[in-house]
Amino acid sequence: MNLDGFEARKADHLRLSMDPSMQAAGHSGFDLIHLFHDALPELDFKDISLHTKFWWFEAASPCFISSMTAGHQGGEALNIRLAKVASERRWPMGLGSQRRELQDPKAHEEWKRLRAAAPNALFFSNLGLSQLIETPLEKVKALIENLGSAAIIIHLNPLQEVLQPEGTPSFLGGIKALEKLCKISKVPVILKETGSGFSPATLLKIRKLKLGAVDVSGLGGTHWGRIEGGRANGTIFHAASQTFDHWGESTVASLLAAKSNWRRQKKRPELWASGGIRNGLDAAKAIAIGANKVGFAKPVLEAALSGEATLHAWMDRIEFELKIALFCTGSKDIAALQKETKWQKI
Ligand SMILES: Cc1cc2nc3c(=O)[nH]c(=O)nc-3n(C[C@H](O)[C@H](O)[C@H](O)COP(=O)(O)O)c2cc1C
Repeated sequence: MNLDGFEARKADHLRLSMDPSMQAAGHSGFDLIHLFHDALPELDFKDISLHTKFWWFEAASPCFISSMTAGHQGGEALNIRLAKVASERRWPMGLGSQRRELQDPKAHEEWKRLRAAAPNALFFSNLGLSQLIETPLEKVKALIENLGSAAIIIHLNPLQEVLQPEGTPSFLGGIKALEKLCKISKVPVILKETGSGFSPATLLKIRKLKLGAVDVSGLGGTHWGRIEGGRANGTIFHAASQTFDHWGESTVASLLAAKSNWRRQKKRPELWASGGIRNGLDAAKAIAIGANKVGFAKPVLEAALSGEATLHAWMDRIEFELKIALFCTGSKDIAALQKETKWQKI
C-alpha cells in the first residue's frame, strides 16, 4: 500500500464528508415513521432512563460513535479527542479501518497511544471485508488484542470500492472469511455497511453467520459513492458516481427487512442502526422499529472538528432529544419504546 496515497485519500474523505452534497439527505426513510404522541404519560421526565448495555459495558444510552478513519496528519489528535469524550460520556466508539496497521508499524504505535489516552473507552476494531479476505486470521486477532477492543466490525462497501480509483472491488470468498472469523473470534463480530444498507437478499445470505450484531448503516446520510466521485472530477468514476448518487437501501427499509427476516430465527444478532441518523428523534424512531443501538458518524465528526465543548454540547442534545421522545411516547426506558406499538408507517 502506498502510504502517502493512503494519507491523501483519508484527508480527502474527511474534507468531503463535511460537504452537504455528499449526504443522501432525505432518503433515510425516517420521515415515513410516525411515533405516536402520548398526551398522558404516567411518568416523571427525571426518571426517564436511556441506560443500555453493550454486552457487559454499562453505556449512557444506546448511542455510539460510528467507525471513522482519520488516518492522516491531524487525524490522531482528532481520534484522541473523540476517544476521551466517548469514554467520559460512556458512548462506545467504533474506530476507523485498521487496514494501515496490517502493513505499517507506525500505525500500531498510534493505536497504542489512543488506548493510553482513553484506557476505559469501549472500542470496536474495524476492517473492510476485502482486507479480511486476504489477511491471515492471526493478524486480524492481533488488531483486536493490541487495542483491547470489545468487538470487531467488518465493513461492507462494494459501491465505494468500485468507484474508488485505488479501490479493491473483490468480495469473492467474503462469506467464507466471515464464517471463519466468527468461529475463532473471542469478541463479537459485527457486520456493517457504510451508508448503502442491507437488502432482504443480503440479509438472507448472512443468516447462518454467528454474528454479534448487524449495523445496517443504510442510505440517508454520508454516501460513499458521492464521496469517491467527488475525489475523481473529470473521470469515469466521477460520471458514474452521479448515476449512483442515491444507490442503496434506506436505513428504515434495512431495519424493517432485518426485523422481518429474523422474526422466526431463535439465535439472532443484535440489530444496530446507522446511516443518516441526525438527531435524537431519528434515533428514537430507529429504536422503536427494531434497532438495539444507534450510531452516528458525520454529525460526531462535525462537532468534534469544532472542539471538545461542541462535541459535549452535541451529545447533550442527542441524549435530551432521545429522552423527550421516550417521555412523549410514554416510554420509561429503551425497552418500553421497543416493546409496545409506539409507531406507524405513514
Ligand atoms: C470520514 C469518515 C470516515 C469513515 N471511515 C469508515 C471506516 O473506516 N470504516 C467503516 O466501517 N465506516 C467508515 N465510515 C462510515 C460510517 O461509519 C457510517 O457507516 C456512514 O458514514 C453512515 O453514517 P452517517 O450518515 O452518520 O455519516 C466513515 C464515515 C466518515 C464520515
